[in-house]
Amino acid sequence: MRPQKFLFLAYALAAAAFTIPQLEARKSKSPQKAKPCAGNTAHKRTKWCDYDINTDYTQTVPNTGVTREYWLSIDEINVAPDGIERFAMAVNGTIPGPTIYADWGDNVVVHVTNHLDESRNGTSIHWHGIRQNYTNQNDGVVSITQCPTAPGSSITYKWRAAQYGSSWYHSHIGLQAWEGVFGGIIINGPASKNYDVDKGMLFLNDWSHRTADELYTYAQAVGPPTLDTGLINGTNKYNDTGSYFTMRANKGESYRLRVLNAAIDTHWKFMIDNHQLTVIAMDFVPIKPYTTEYINIGMGQRYDIIVTANQPNARNHWIRAVPQTDCSENDNVEGIKGILHYYGKVGTPNTSPWQFDDICLDEDMSKLVPIVPKSVSAAGWDAMTDVTVSKNTNNLFRWYLNSTTMQVEWEDPTLLQIHDGTTEWEASSGVIELPNANEWVYLLINTSMPVAHPIHLHGHDFFILAQGTGPWDGTTVTSNPPRRDTALLESSGYLLMAWETDNPGAWLMHCHIGWHTSEGFALQFIERYDEAKELINYDYVNDNCQSWIEYDGEFSIEQEDSGV
Ligand SMILES: *[C@@H]1O[C@H](CO)[C@@H](O)[C@H](O)[C@H]1NC(C)=O
Ligand SMILES: *[C@@H]1O[C@H](CO)[C@@H](O)[C@H](O)[C@H]1NC(C)=O
Ligand SMILES: *[C@@H]1O[C@H](CO)[C@@H](O)[C@H](O)[C@H]1NC(C)=O
Ligand SMILES: *[C@@H]1O[C@H](CO)[C@@H](O)[C@H](O)[C@H]1NC(C)=O
Ligand SMILES: *[C@@H]1O[C@H](CO)[C@@H](O)[C@H](O)[C@H]1NC(C)=O
Ligand SMILES: *[C@@H]1O[C@H](CO)[C@@H](O)[C@H](O)[C@H]1NC(C)=O
Ligand SMILES: *[C@@H]1O[C@H](CO)[C@@H](O)[C@H](O)[C@H]1NC(C)=O
Repeated sequence: MRPQKFLFLAYALAAAAFTIPQLEARKSKSPQKAKPCAGNTAHKRTKWCDYDINTDYTQTVPNTGVTREYWLSIDEINVAPDGIERFAMAVNGTIPGPTIYADWGDNVVVHVTNHLDESRNGTSIHWHGIRQNYTNQNDGVVSITQCPTAPGSSITYKWRAAQYGSSWYHSHIGLQAWEGVFGGIIINGPASKNYDVDKGMLFLNDWSHRTADELYTYAQAVGPPTLDTGLINGTNKYNDTGSYFTMRANKGESYRLRVLNAAIDTHWKFMIDNHQLTVIAMDFVPIKPYTTEYINIGMGQRYDIIVTANQPNARNHWIRAVPQTDCSENDNVEGIKGILHYYGKVGTPNTSPWQFDDICLDEDMSKLVPIVPKSVSAAGWDAMTDVTVSKNTNNLFRWYLNSTTMQVEWEDPTLLQIHDGTTEWEASSGVIELPNANEWVYLLINTSMPVAHPIHLHGHDFFILAQGTGPWDGTTVTSNPPRRDTALLESSGYLLMAWETDNPGAWLMHCHIGWHTSEGFALQFIERYDEAKELINYDYVNDNCQSWIEYDGEFSIEQEDSGV
């Protein structure tokens, strides 16, 4: 029996022996209508059935016995989110695509069908931040865990919602995520502060009237293009067209928003005029609540915030996503807005923004204190890598980690190579082997270039031991430092990451700026090779590859990027 199937059978058996009538009843209900777990009310959000906010979710996961099944279609469409029409790619015809909901502990099964006909794009869907504990082949990264899924073909991903909170799924081939192929993931669980109403995802996107694929030529040859504007949850006004995102509030009520930076190359400050924000989670990690006037949010990051409608006078307030021109180029810096309005008809706010400095930083490490405390032990393996950029022989920009820019092939994913017993890797594959189990890995990334990079690691939450500008002074925070799946390498700065080798597989680490991933800013860690090999369901990976190779044979699809 394949290890993967065995894993799911094991869950099913465990669930059968563990039946709570109320959980059973939810099995057949539509996922969106799921009731909160027993005890979780507006006045006690810390509670979750037999668990609570202090439960160590890295050790304990509720056995709900529930499987949430979804069908997603990747389509080509015309959209006009700001009134200006253009071509796009989308999930089920909308940008953002449908949100995937699950309860903490559920199994999730998603069937993805590629209907991208005219463009002949292959596809893949990555579940950003999802641990994929022993389920590496469901990570959805072309060239690493799978081949592209060809137009006309389908692929099924299976993973467990072992964490809870907010994230997104997005395409992980080329620049397709920024053509519009993404949507939210909400995993219901306890929260570190009470609120009245969950308003769901709040996507912050940058947006241009030319597609990301069209702009890539310029990005590679000249540098990051200036983008036209941005969208708040898929909408905005542009000149006299389009409409603002609006959110209705009742005086005195508090709202949870799951703010997510889905941009290709924009670092935001997010704020709501006159309202303080209480931050309760970063990525998939609940934290001790803190209050702030605005949040700094890098690409791929999430902050769950609570906002209370507590203003006595004005009915309408601007919601603002402000591109930080320190590291982002945008033609509509002051115009990416939405409206929070209390009652009556929506009017044009005449409110002013909070004061801020235009600079690309993460939220300060000292504010990001995980509720479930964890400490980091001494490194069993450590390395550093610097970050540089230069032009390749075709005079196109490529990013280098220790003089290597990633170049891998869609049709030859790492998992198939591991299955075939490959042990020698080309430098351009960016492979770093981590053979030992349950060892602490320390990776220092530093750069003397004045460009900030959001670093995203697959398969793990990593701990941030040190982060700042200038050279690292050698100090570390090892007692309950922030841990998350995406953190900023600051301009001319350093980021010291640490994680434990507790999840066999081939895991990508990359800069989440869309251009930079395509331009080779990536490494892959092969964690515990032998066990990773055992976990591969060859037929699953190979069948998808065979249909891609057949499609490619017919249409000769050209790969113009790093492969991830
Ligand atoms: C991850 O999977 C391994 C192997 O099945 C298991 O031992 C471990 O408990 C799992 N961890 C979590 C948090 O589920
Ligand atoms: C997406 O669209 C397909 C049809 O193309 C439909 O079967 C499915 O239910 C939709 N999924 C969601 C989550 O709305
Ligand atoms: C997808 O299609 C666009 C438009 O034809 C093309 O520019 C781009 O390179 C393709 N991307 C991938 C990943 O195949
Ligand atoms: C943003 O869009 C998503 C997906 O359509 C929706 O579920 C969510 O409620 C919207 N967010 C807000 C704050 O309205
Ligand atoms: C929007 O307005 C700006 C400034 O007035 C102008 O330069 C631009 O051409 C307009 N764009 C469109 C698409 O109308
Ligand atoms: C990068 O190069 C430095 C200096 O040669 C070396 O110490 C380090 O181990 C290399 N890093 C990686 C990830 O290979
Ligand atoms: C990165 O840090 C190492 C160790 O502190 C140092 O030797 C190296 O010069 C730094 N490189 C850059 C580009 O800052």
